[in-house]
Amino acid sequence: MTKTVTLQEFIMDGQAAFPFVSGQLTRLLTDLAIGAKIVNHQVNRAGLAGILGATDNINVQDEQQQKLDVFADRTFQRILTAGKSVAGIGSEEREDFILCGDAGRHGKYVVMIDPLDGSSNIDVNVSIGTIFSIHKRTTPMGEPLTDEDFLQPGDRQVAAGYILYGSSTMLVYTTGTGVNGFTLDPAVGEFFLSHPGMQFPEHGSTYSINDALLSRATPPVRTFIDGCRETSDPAFRARYIGSLVADFHRNLIHGGIYLYPSLVGKPEGKLRLLYECAPLAFIAEQAGGSAEDDQGRIMERTPSHLHERVPFYVGSRHLLHALNACRKAPVN
Ligand code: AHG
Ligand code: MN
Ligand code: MN
Repeated sequence: MTKTVTLQEFIMDGQAAFPFVSGQLTRLLTDLAIGAKIVNHQVNRAGLAGILGATDNINVQDEQQQKLDVFADRTFQRILTAGKSVAGIGSEEREDFILCGDAGRHGKYVVMIDPLDGSSNIDVNVSIGTIFSIHKRTTPMGEPLTDEDFLQPGDRQVAAGYILYGSSTMLVYTTGTGVNGFTLDPAVGEFFLSHPGMQFPEHGSTYSINDALLSRATPPVRTFIDGCRETSDPAFRARYIGSLVADFHRNLIHGGIYLYPSLVGKPEGKLRLLYECAPLAFIAEQAGGSAEDDQGRIMERTPSHLHERVPFYVGSRHLLHALNACRKAPVN
């Protein structure tokens, strides 16, 4: 029988390879996995527990908060704050960042989180997710955190990951040495390594975009999508779940590209740089894929504010090249 590896063992082994590290990142990743199990439990009970539906609240993104958005946000905040390794948390659901214990003087890390991704799919039993990004604080330990601790470029992330609450629940993460995926065995409440060394296929034949937005998209994006529709390759298909984590995960496994473009009247698109794009860009690049906005690599963007949005194109390298070729082609 092959030996199964739990997430906990995997994280601990990763730490053992770097004996000089303090163990705070190990603790932090472990806490995120605990939060994932709690949110997963609640997601699975949605409908029974009176937790479906919207709250009366509109969040900082100008979107109506769902009850599960609030539950997930509070759960991760509570667990990460108690863990002592986190100095501050930026959440898609909160206008300002949260400082953990003693004005964020002590924890080594800053966490950015989209607690519940794909909110519009909660009430209809379709896959949803959580996305997280971890940076080291920039201000010295013992001092209060400042804006700069939160507004760091993606290429300074020390870890990033997502949890997919799908037909099974998975946690996928990177610490900069490849991407590994773990599946939750609900019978024992443990994540097991199920997808070691995940890699974006270099070529893909799936494109994921909200078709209803296309008339407002830029000419290169429209040319690219026309090319996808008109290709003679019979394997080509459109798939759009409307939960970024789920669309990303499918494309990571089968090969494909996800696009949320710049739109007329909304040049920055919809997706948030710090909570959605930068962490998935880190994972994509670690898995041999690419992640860009209209200017280039997402990982090089330094955010100017917490809730900054950017156009987002992520997936198999070959498809990103094809999109870039449409940018360079003359528009007729
Ligand atoms: P969130 O639920 O965290 O606000 O994110 C929703 C995002 C993303 O998950 C999804 O791909 C996209 O919004 C869908 O937007 P459209 O409905 O505009 O296609
Ligand atoms: Mn989201
Ligand atoms: Mn969200």
